[in-house]
Amino acid sequence: TPVTLIGVPLEEGSGRRGCVMGPTALRIAGVDRVLGELGFSVTDKGDLAPKPVEGLEAQLSPGCQAKNLAAVAGFTRAIEAATFEAAQAGTLPILLGGDHALSMGSVSGMARHAAALGRPLFVLWLDAHADFNSVETSPSGNMHGMPVAFFCGEAGLGGILPEDRPLVDPRRVYQVGIRSVDAREREEVAEHGVNVYDMRALDEMGASAIIREILAAVEAEDGLLHVSLDVDFLDPDVAPGVGTTVPGGATFREAHLIMEMLCDSARASSLDLVELNPFLDDRGKSARILVELTASLFGRRIFDRPTRSA
Ligand code: ARG
Ligand code: MN
Ligand code: MN
Ligand code: MN
Repeated sequence: TPVTLIGVPLEEGSGRRGCVMGPTALRIAGVDRVLGELGFSVTDKGDLAPKPVEGLEAQLSPGCQAKNLAAVAGFTRAIEAATFEAAQAGTLPILLGGDHALSMGSVSGMARHAAALGRPLFVLWLDAHADFNSVETSPSGNMHGMPVAFFCGEAGLGGILPEDRPLVDPRRVYQVGIRSVDAREREEVAEHGVNVYDMRALDEMGASAIIREILAAVEAEDGLLHVSLDVDFLDPDVAPGVGTTVPGGATFREAHLIMEMLCDSARASSLDLVELNPFLDDRGKSARILVELTASLFGRRIFDRPTRSA
């Protein structure tokens, strides 16, 4: 499958500046080069530069907040269209973020693509955070904490995309690496049946058992699988270039194993690389790790494996 790179210089969904430089850092770290070396044909669409959508704030109820709604809404529409278009053209979209609010658009675009194919969309959410806040429950108002609720239709953010847009069933969302969840967010995640493998599950089960379970669920329904990788899924020692570090994250080896197993499954239909903040990074370390993980997802391996039956 050819790959389409979509640059998303979005930082308005996060609480601080810096993610706007993410797409450039990922390109400098060689994301297009490693994919080319692995034999993929790569088209880089460049960076999206959408206009803000004014007037949506008026629809928010008192006490609800969604910071920089106009900017994020503009990006969401542009990302949704670009992702859908890339997928419909038979390519695999990779979103170069940009903060995690970009997944409002990328996952919605893939949901529209999956609906057109008549197949279900699954989401693998690799993150320290559940990102299931709504405009009502968010303690910060930062929209990068809302994308999962958004594409499940639970964020209270009408008017950004058409009312009849395809949604993702929260029971087809699988979160791995979770270790920071807000009080009301925790109730929402449980109530809606999101599948959470928190850090304790990762420690107890190991990455391989978790990924096997998730892939079995995807395969049972012949689903598409969108992979969303937040830098803070990784331990801050491994990847410091992110504004929302949480100690006790995934190791370099766990993350690579997950990518290698996903590669073997050939299920991944789309990928987000998000929350990279080059302003906070250590000499490009985190950008490079995201690119190395992308290489593993697209087939780089230490040695070819002998074909083994289960
Ligand atoms: N739960 C917190 C909030 O809603 C943090 C969200 C962090 N999200 C992220 N994509 N880094 O503000
Ligand atoms: Mn996130
Ligand atoms: Mn996060
Ligand atoms: Mn609810």
